[in-house]
Amino acid sequence: MDGFNADLSGRTALVTGASSGIGRAISEVLLRNGAAVIGMQRRTEVRLDGEYTAVAADMSDPESVRAAGERVLAERRVDILVNNAGVNIRHPFEDFPLEDWDRVLQVNLRSVVELTQIVARPMLEREDGIVVNISSMLAFTGGMRASAYAASKGAIGQLTKSLANEWAHRGVRVNAIAPGFIDTDMNVALRADRVRDRQILERIPMGRWGLADDIAGAALFLASPAAHYVHGVVLPVDGGYLAR
Ligand SMILES: NC(=O)c1ccc[n+]([C@@H]2O[C@H](COP(=O)([O-])OP(=O)(O)OC[C@H]3O[C@@H](n4cnc5c(N)ncnc54)[C@H](OP(=O)(O)O)[C@@H]3O)[C@@H](O)[C@H]2O)c1
Repeated sequence: MDGFNADLSGRTALVTGASSGIGRAISEVLLRNGAAVIGMQRRTEVRLDGEYTAVAADMSDPESVRAAGERVLAERRVDILVNNAGVNIRHPFEDFPLEDWDRVLQVNLRSVVELTQIVARPMLEREDGIVVNISSMLAFTGGMRASAYAASKGAIGQLTKSLANEWAHRGVRVNAIAPGFIDTDMNVALRADRVRDRQILERIPMGRWGLADDIAGAALFLASPAAHYVHGVVLPVDGGYLAR
């Protein structure tokens, strides 16, 4: 193949958590490059321009995830699955309420397992499909008071590698992105903590927080034919943070 081919015309992407932040930026770049996008989201009133359909789902509710996944597949062929929806609830580990632990693991990991099983089965039958998981830099580092989140995102990294091993020779390509510190709704409180904000900025070689759009290009690459020999990577997109 010659050069960078990101033409996604005729392809349909299912993006979870498409209503804001990184999921929204990924949806917009996929739309701009010719894909139709189905946004699986809690707030279905949020719509994007272009060939975009919103489908309601609450990723904290396994039944909702299953029903939404099956509803989409009953009507559409999904070529690209972007598992983006995620939540972080912070507590010191010794006091971490187990119901919050379960909620983080349900939204960030179990819903990914459930939806990927549903969406990938027809991909495997067609021997054609792409999965892009959104992990985190906390797959590599521990973070602060974010043990459930770090555990869930580390698991997403390992799940990505497991699925690549099982599916690379069956036409389904699975990779993950590990975003660094990205300025989205998820990090409003962290940015407001001036000490932590300064500590974080000092460690980022690029000297600034990431933007949701900084992640979109990596997602476009992994969703595109240009990445056809890339399998099972957890790709840091972090302004150099992990290199420090
Ligand atoms: N920002 C960062 O620094 C960073 C770094 C590494 C990884 N990530 C990951 O990137 C992904 C996107 O996060 P973001 O930074 O863009 O933050 P965000 O703006 O808060 O986006 C999170 C998305 O997940 C959705 N979501 C959360 N709980 C949900 C639920 N129960 N059911 C359905 N959707 C749910 C949210 O929907 P609502 O809009 O309805 O709440 C929202 O669309 C997450 O997986 C996050 O862990 C972020």
